[in-house]
Amino acid sequence: MANNIVIVGAQWGDEGKGKIVDILTEEADIIVRFQGGNNAGHTVIVDGEKFVFHLLPSGILHRGKTCIIGDGVVVDPEVLVAEIEVLEKNGKFDPAGLLISQNAHLIMPYHKTLDAARERLRGEGKIGTTKRGIGPAYEDKVSRCGIRCGDLLNESVFRSKLKSNLLFKNHYIETMHHGDGFEVYEIYNRYMGYADKIARHIQDTSLFLDKAIKANKKILFEGAQGTLLDIDHGTFPYVTSSNTVAGQAATGSGVGPTRLDRVLGVIKAYTTRVGEGPFPTELDGSDGEMLRGKGEEFGATTGRARRCGWFDGVAMSYAVRVNGLDGLIITKLDVLDSVKEIKICTEYSLDGKTITDLPTELDILKKCKPIYETMDGWDKPTTGIRTFEELPENAKKFISRIEELSGVKAFLISVGAGREASIKVVEPFG
Ligand code: GDP
Ligand code: IMO
Ligand code: MG
Repeated sequence: MANNIVIVGAQWGDEGKGKIVDILTEEADIIVRFQGGNNAGHTVIVDGEKFVFHLLPSGILHRGKTCIIGDGVVVDPEVLVAEIEVLEKNGKFDPAGLLISQNAHLIMPYHKTLDAARERLRGEGKIGTTKRGIGPAYEDKVSRCGIRCGDLLNESVFRSKLKSNLLFKNHYIETMHHGDGFEVYEIYNRYMGYADKIARHIQDTSLFLDKAIKANKKILFEGAQGTLLDIDHGTFPYVTSSNTVAGQAATGSGVGPTRLDRVLGVIKAYTTRVGEGPFPTELDGSDGEMLRGKGEEFGATTGRARRCGWFDGVAMSYAVRVNGLDGLIITKLDVLDSVKEIKICTEYSLDGKTITDLPTELDILKKCKPIYETMDGWDKPTTGIRTFEELPENAKKFISRIEELSGVKAFLISVGAGREASIKVVEPFG
């Protein structure tokens, strides 16, 4: 029995975590986001209606569940309030179902200005960030000057922290970036307006989770971004500013690691990446266009075209290692339905040698060339299929090969964007 399951992206993000968390929420009591911010875009499609969540956990559409924005998340209250209001308009928001950690740091307007200004200065060497202020907000957390959600509950504390931050930030923005600084009263008034809307949700969520665990509740920890975007374990510096790997589920929610029962990695049947940075199996030509077209690979947050490539078994094995994956959730299998020949990268070639352990040093990874195995496609639609047995033989072979390379089982297979287009192979909470 697994009561507490961590779901992480096993590639460079956008693996379909939102859809998976939404369907697993059916069996869960609590859903927790534990890192990242509104750089995430998690898509959930219910009865043809599309929702993209940036901060709210992807279980939010289910009634009677508790959704938590944990300690490790950076919260832009403007975005959060807008997300809540969209659900309110649709009659889909249950105020009792949302908790926000008092320890989660706030994204402030100057974080967004700095994110964009730094990207401009980097020029050709830009990271390709989402410009949502994620990096600068995490910087303030680590440098211990950040302002937290709990500070919204105390006007004078909020005001004084804002004042001392603006002293430095305005100086920096005006002198280094020749931009306009911010006024204390303007941000103060705006943020107190957000506080009116979200204050009732802010509390000690670690304590809430501790009680829930003692009461044997089922908890889903919803990762954002993906393993290769992890600040420590990703393709630095082309990464995001938080730990995206499974260990962060504990740190980012105030739950001890011994309480996490199972870790599942979400992985697409091919690979995508948004933003800059190395991507060994990237396809530049018509095959890349074909995957982008069939997979509708355009960013859920920024709308940017996602870079596309074949499945990378070396990157997957790395994700199994650094997350301690117990199993995989393979998504977008249907995107390969009509592809005649499907490639899987099983090894890299590096300076005439063959390697299977992913190097994360930029200069070395850039030199790695993928070595592919080619498999015959299945040339049949899979979106209507609901059991593993019914899948075409070549699709089964493709999945088996992924399992063989990763050393772990596929728990779920997703064959379409809708909730129903899912094949359960192993019971995730079982
Ligand atoms: P996330 O960030 O990991 O939640 O993923 P995104 O929502 O950014 O991107 C995944 C995209 O693929 C979304 O548009 C989903 O609706 C879609 N999607 C998820 N699973 C499947 C699937 O199995 N098949 C197809 N065709 N689309 C899927
Ligand atoms: P989900 O949760 C894909 C990428 C950005 C950029 C890098 C740093 O939807 O999978 P940041 O704004 O975080 O400082 O940008 O990380 N990135 C993502 N790519 N999916 C995401 O989230 C991402 N969040 C950030 O494109 O390359
Ligand atoms: Mg996404």
